[in-house]
Amino acid sequence: MRDECQELAAFKDRNLSVVDVGSGTGFNTEGIIRYVDPKNITCIDQSPHQIARARTKSNLTGCTFIIGDAENLPVKSNSFDRYISAGSIEYWPDPLQGLKEAFRVIKPGGIALMIGPLEPQGWLTRLLATTWMLFPKDEEYRQWMKEAGFTDLQIRYTSPHWVSTTTKYGIAISGKKPNDIPSPELTAPASTNVEVKEKTGFLRTLLLIWRVTIGSFAGFLFIPIALLGYLFSIGKQKNIPAEYRERLNGYQVFALVIILGIIAFVLWSIIT
Ligand SMILES: C[S@@+](CC[C@H](N)C(=O)[O-])C[C@H]1O[C@@H](n2cnc3c(N)ncnc32)[C@H](O)[C@@H]1O
Repeated sequence: MRDECQELAAFKDRNLSVVDVGSGTGFNTEGIIRYVDPKNITCIDQSPHQIARARTKSNLTGCTFIIGDAENLPVKSNSFDRYISAGSIEYWPDPLQGLKEAFRVIKPGGIALMIGPLEPQGWLTRLLATTWMLFPKDEEYRQWMKEAGFTDLQIRYTSPHWVSTTTKYGIAISGKKPNDIPSPELTAPASTNVEVKEKTGFLRTLLLIWRVTIGSFAGFLFIPIALLGYLFSIGKQKNIPAEYRERLNGYQVFALVIILGIIAFVLWSIIT
């Protein structure tokens, strides 16, 4: 999915300067280094922990790592040939502001590529998914890109091989910053010192507890759902090159063992 989406960034030259926003542990960046020299890549993420993980990857040596907010990027205007962000927009409180920042930091003529999930189509998965995270609609991605100033939009839909090919699971949307529109030169975004007043009070606390509880539960349900998806996909993986086949990591194996244990316990309790 990553590789199909990255084609829209048109990485035609190893010397292009690229910013990867919400770069996390560098999975998306590991795709970019196949086309662009690491010394030309800047990775920005709000989490020092994720950045620390990415730094340990030997193939990412040479990339620049910066802690920063996608909605308030700590980089100069008109600096990069390419902006790319994968699997991060769904965590941003104000996606449009993030895309305005994408527009600001790329050079006139540069391309921005946003890769993110789409609102699930089935009512149950949609209910679970949107309870704990933002899953933007197709039209919202297009609207935000246009409003941020991008032109020549190109779109590709993706889905993992274990969902039906008609299901639009994620979207990759790229846009161009017109050649004649440089952004005002900013060394630091203007909104850095804006004071945010948090609402307080008993009802607000109750609402927060409710949201965290229900959101965590809905998020948890995705573990067995993803595991089931994996189990059903095993037969279909034969046609996929070995490097792209889904594999379970240690945490998923652990979760699978726990879930199978619970099922065995429930069945045993019913039978005895
Ligand atoms: C699911 S990870 C995706 C990481 C990576 N792009 C990839 O494809 O594997 C989402 C990342 O977005 C980062 N993130 C979320 N909100 C952010 C924000 N407002 N500014 C910068 N990074 C953000 C998180 O810290 C996390 O590392």
